[in-house]
This record gives sequence, structure tokens and C-alpha cells, in this order.
Amino acid sequence: MEIKVTQNVTDTPYEVLVIGKFEGEKTSLDFVNKYVVEKDNFEGKLGETYVIHTLGQLPQEKILVVGCGKKDEFDGNKMREVSAKAVKKLQQIKAKKACFDFDINKDFGKSAAIGALIADYYYDKYKSEKKDRVDEITFAGFSKEQVNEGIIFGETMKFTRDLANEPAQNATPSKLAEIAKNLDGIETKIYDREECEKMGMGAFLAVGQGSIQPPKFIHMKYSCNNPKKRIALIGKGICFDSGGLDIKPPSSMLTMKDDMSGAACILGVMNALSKLQPQIEIHGIIAACENMPSGSSYKPGDILTAKNGKTIEVDNTDAEGRLTLADALCYACELKVDEVIDIATLTGACMVALGNTVSGIMGNNEELIQELIKTGEESGEKFWQLPMYKDYFNGLKSDIADMKNTGSRYGGASAAGVFLQEFVEGVKWAHIDVAGTAYLEKPQNEFIAGATGVGVRTLLNYVIK
Ligand code: BES
Ligand code: MN
Ligand code: ZN
Repeated sequence: MEIKVTQNVTDTPYEVLVIGKFEGEKTSLDFVNKYVVEKDNFEGKLGETYVIHTLGQLPQEKILVVGCGKKDEFDGNKMREVSAKAVKKLQQIKAKKACFDFDINKDFGKSAAIGALIADYYYDKYKSEKKDRVDEITFAGFSKEQVNEGIIFGETMKFTRDLANEPAQNATPSKLAEIAKNLDGIETKIYDREECEKMGMGAFLAVGQGSIQPPKFIHMKYSCNNPKKRIALIGKGICFDSGGLDIKPPSSMLTMKDDMSGAACILGVMNALSKLQPQIEIHGIIAACENMPSGSSYKPGDILTAKNGKTIEVDNTDAEGRLTLADALCYACELKVDEVIDIATLTGACMVALGNTVSGIMGNNEELIQELIKTGEESGEKFWQLPMYKDYFNGLKSDIADMKNTGSRYGGASAAGVFLQEFVEGVKWAHIDVAGTAYLEKPQNEFIAGATGVGVRTLLNYVIK
């Protein structure tokens, strides 16, 4: 879908003109007020739609009226929903070109573009029959700058969703490494197994040792002159999580190609940086591997030594994400950055606690956590802070090593958090658990089933703030 911006509308004979209607208010078109509002009592509740043929009375073939809800409750998040709804409706009526003329604050252009691109997303590359798409949308009256930023965000989400939706047969650690090497304006270093061994990444390497796919440790870097600060973003990159020898039941394994959603998010973010040019130095880090059962797999009872020298008794090979993140966190902390943020499909417990629309967040710095929660709210992504009391470490105590990788089933998201904290030193750190939000088994809000690209909007907004 192509998105354009214009400052004057209505004479152009677009196929469809899309306008908004607030509850209890008139629309900008008398034609609509007369037929749709007065005769048919169209109220304009948020997301309601109405299509009307103009039968030659206006330059456009059809008018699509979208409900915008109550005027005083309208904000960027509602704008995104309304825009997404409009695109879905246009797809349904098989319209190809439309002009959106919302008589609204011109600064909502970013949200409008993001909403349109989220709704335009289908993962149909392996389908013989493709979905009906809208070819072109022209936004009238919005600031061009805002719309262009929205397009970068929307396209980054698509990039991330495509990658997370890609079957594990293709989205291998080597493939992620190759993508990382080809990003515009990013310097990338890939460490293979031997180099990781030299760096002492015993936890990461253990997870990947059962797979025929070689592990890849990916370090991307975006630099600028006089950076305001230096940060590292880490994405969990388990390209397939079978559970390893503690193998998952079939129904739980079904979606585990998505266990690199954190990595896909960070690759997307790094890909967008040369376009957004933030004034900070940003490191993107991914410890990519597969968690597979085989004769060479790591085993329950094994003792691993992480990069910082701490030892871990393997209690469950399915708690692999935290092992890979342990070495990635050590590596990031050694860069002496100011902040480290990791994003990971880490625990089923987080999904049980918070569901499919809210991600968990925790860490060692309240200010950073609150700033991310707030940025999330403004970005249309919800985060809820989970506790990090020392009590959660009790279950992780080991008789023969510094810790175990799992404890009790209860409080599993927080237990994973305190485990990760063992590998964080000297930096502000936030950990985002997207196990419930990265991948939808059923459509939800403006998202189709499958990968959501969670984290992209919040992290991009966070780095350009
Ligand atoms: N990748 C999973 C977590 C997950 C579960 C992500 C569901 C998305 C949806 C993670 O590696 C895992 O298997 N976690 C275990 C940990 C347990 C063994 C302590 C879990 O949550 O069951
Ligand atoms: Mn697992
Ligand atoms: Zn996993």
C-alpha cells in the first residue's frame, strides 16, 4: 500500500472518500448528514462504519463514514484504531484507492499512517490466493512529516512481523545474522561458536548445542556524533523452541517459531535507525540459536558457566531463553552503555498473568521502567510492571551451582526476571516479557492472527524522544 499526503481534498475524484464522525456531531459533508445521520441514525460509535454510494452527486463513487466515538475522548490511539478499521472496510468492499479526510488535529497523521499499515498487513506470501489490498491511500490535511514518520513505524512493524511469522525452517540463526549484516547504516559483527566459546558464553552455547543449525551471536551498532547517551537493546533469538530434552507437548510447540520475536523486533528497530537518525548510540544484540533435542543437546543437571563466571545448574532445558539472555546481558554490560533493555518471549507465566494485549516489564531502575511504560501508552502498547523481590530467587537456589535456571511454576515471570538480574551489572536495565503479546492465535483489535511486531513502536519512540 502506498501512502500519500495532500493538503486539499475534495474535488479529486477518488474512488472512496473516507470521513470520520464523532458521536453527537455532524460530519463535514452535508450529503452524509442528510442520508446517513438523519435518515439512518448513524451514531458514530468508535469503529462503526457506513458505506454510501453517491450516485453521481459527489465527485467520489462512495463515501465511507467511520465512527470516531466521543470527541473529547479522541486521541492518537483512537486515530490508529479508526484508520485501521477504515482500511479493513475498504478491503472488504474491494476498494483500491481512497482519500482519508478526517477533520481532526493535523498531528494525528503518524497514528493514522500506522493504523492503516497495521490493517494492510497480511502474511500471505505462501498463499496461492492473495488477500484484497488497498493500493493507495491519500491522507488529507495531516502534516507530511508526521505521516512519513508513521510510515517508517508501520513498515518497521511489517518487517518485524514478517520475520517472526517466517517458519523456523527459513528464519534460522544464520538467516538472522545475514539480515543483520545487510542493514542500512548499521555496523554488524557476527560471532560464531568458536568465538563465543572464547568469550566464555557457556550458557548461550549450551542451548544451541543440540541443533544442526549453528548458533550466531549478533552485535549491531548504530552510531552518531555526540550521542546524548549510549544504550543496548537485546532481543531473545530462539529461532525454534522445542523445549529441548524437556520437550514441549505438541500444542505448546505449535507457535514456537515465534520465540525469536524479540530478535525480530530489535532487527526491525535497527533497520529503522538510519531513517530516523536518533541522537543516541544504539547497540542491538541477539544471541541466536535453536533449542532442539538430539544426541548433542544440553541436559537437565548440566552445569553451565556464563560469561560473567556465574554457574547455572540446568533444571529444565525449556527455560532456555534466560540462558541465552544471560550471556547477552553480560556482553551488553561490558560495553559500558548507560541503559540495557531486553525484549523476550520469555515465560508462559507472563502470558497467564497478563494475557495477549499487555506485556510484562521489570528491571533494576524505576525511572527507566516508568519511562518505557509511558512511552508504551503513547505508542499503543501496554506494559505492566511485575515485581522483582529477592524472594523470587529462593526457588532458584542450587545445592551444587550458583543458581538453577528454574524454580517453582508460581511467579514464573518474576523468577525469570531475578534470574536475569544476576547477569546485569553497572547499568540501568529493563526487561520486557512479550510471551503473551508477540504472537496471537486469534485476531485481536487491529491485528490479524500471528506476529504483532510488539515492542517496535515503543522502542522506536523511546529512542527518538
Ligand atoms: N519460549 C517459552 C515461553 C513462551 C511460552 C513464549 C508461551 C510464548 C508462549 C520459554 O522458553 C519457555 O519455554 N518457558 C517455560 C519456562 C519453564 C520451563 C520454567 C514456560 O514458560 O513454560
Ligand atoms: Mn522454552
Ligand atoms: Zn523459549
